[in-house]
Amino acid sequence: MRRLLVLASGRGSNFRALLEAAKHGVLRAEIVALGVSKRESGAVQIAEAHRLPILFTPTEDEILDFVKRERIDAVILAGYMRILTPKFIEALRDDQGISRIVNIHPSLLPSFPGMNAYAQAFDAGVRETGITVHLVEKEVDGGPILEQKTFRIDQMRSAEEVEARGLPIEHDLFPRTVDWFVNGEYRVEKRGGRPYVRPA
Ligand code: GRF
Repeated sequence: MRRLLVLASGRGSNFRALLEAAKHGVLRAEIVALGVSKRESGAVQIAEAHRLPILFTPTEDEILDFVKRERIDAVILAGYMRILTPKFIEALRDDQGISRIVNIHPSLLPSFPGMNAYAQAFDAGVRETGITVHLVEKEVDGGPILEQKTFRIDQMRSAEEVEARGLPIEHDLFPRTVDWFVNGEYRVEKRGGRPYVRPA
């Protein structure tokens, strides 16, 4: 079984979805621990309820030590509100040079990177937006895309409504994508000089 470290900062609904998926075999991996950048993160209570070890406000070096010591295969960012340094990203590559850090972003990247992506999409008046699961590279929200799922928002009346529609899609897409990625069920091709990672 692949061994995962999840990093979160907020309410933790994606962390919960990953734990549920691991319990039911949808995500064939073991979630070994949670790391949080904020002590008051909702994810902390979820980890406590599952009796999982928690790294509180770890530095990047502490995370890397943990990854080494606990033989972690991939680091999963589930609403982690910290920008990772190039050094950290370089330390977490596999033999092929593929990043071993996965992130979920609530827009159809490359549209609407950064904060409040649901609100950005709503305010822009786009007809549809989506969810992206991607690998982490130095460019924020810019690494190779693993999966995307779109949904229409043209009938919606608020950013909150967009988020309420998007979150269940996140909770479905994220664990399923992490599953094939961490189990190596993908092929790599070059597109535009960059790796392009698709399920095998
Ligand atoms: C999600 O919308 C995720 O896509 C974004 O941050 C939010 C985290 O929500 N990166 P939660 O803490 O998983 O509930």
